[in-house]
Amino acid sequence: MSAITLEIDGKKVPATEGMTVLEAAKKAGIYIPTLCHHEKLEPFGGCRLCLVEVEERGWTKMVVSCVYLAAEGIVVNTRSEKIDRIRKTILELLLAHAPDAEILKDLAQEYRADKDRFEKDPSFCIHCGLCVRYCAEVKQKHAIGFVDRGIRKEISFIPEIAARECNACKECFPLCPTSYLQAAFVLVQALSFPTNASGQADKSIG
Ligand code: SF4
Ligand code: FES
Repeated sequence: MSAITLEIDGKKVPATEGMTVLEAAKKAGIYIPTLCHHEKLEPFGGCRLCLVEVEERGWTKMVVSCVYLAAEGIVVNTRSEKIDRIRKTILELLLAHAPDAEILKDLAQEYRADKDRFEKDPSFCIHCGLCVRYCAEVKQKHAIGFVDRGIRKEISFIPEIAARECNACKECFPLCPTSYLQAAFVLVQALSFPTNASGQADKSIG
């Protein structure tokens, strides 16, 4: 892997080819907010909160830093009026699901996001996919997936696998950015009413 240098927030940052902008920033101690990123998981690019501005070959564009590869000479800005405005809207949409989640409250304060801008949604899940991807990629158990699509999408455990695997694991619970209890509740539901959940979970995260 060749060494490269990029600029982030006016600072020269060393990186290696193949690193994402987010990884390069983290290594240099520059903070970019994330919700769906986990260092043990494949880049996902779901929440969009980590978007940054990149100037490359005379063009400026918005990119999702957890999936965008660092490159020699690119100039990255992690804060601007436009970035803050987009992050604010993303947060307001997420706050409709989980207005009391600590991480969202902290970010809302930072970006002046209004938790009451959008109508409240009864589900705490912000579809970050951390629990689903962790179970599949790290544990390789595929005990949890998503059911339904769009606004009806929600997590669901596959009772046959969950009954065998989850009791000794539960590593997905603390990963959830909005509620530790969310996966726990859905797991209990799946184990208590296995016929409702059986076979419905879609292990993909689309
Ligand atoms: S339950 Fe939590 S960790 Fe799982 S997808 Fe929803 S918000 Fe993410
Ligand atoms: S952290 Fe990059 S899109 Fe969620």
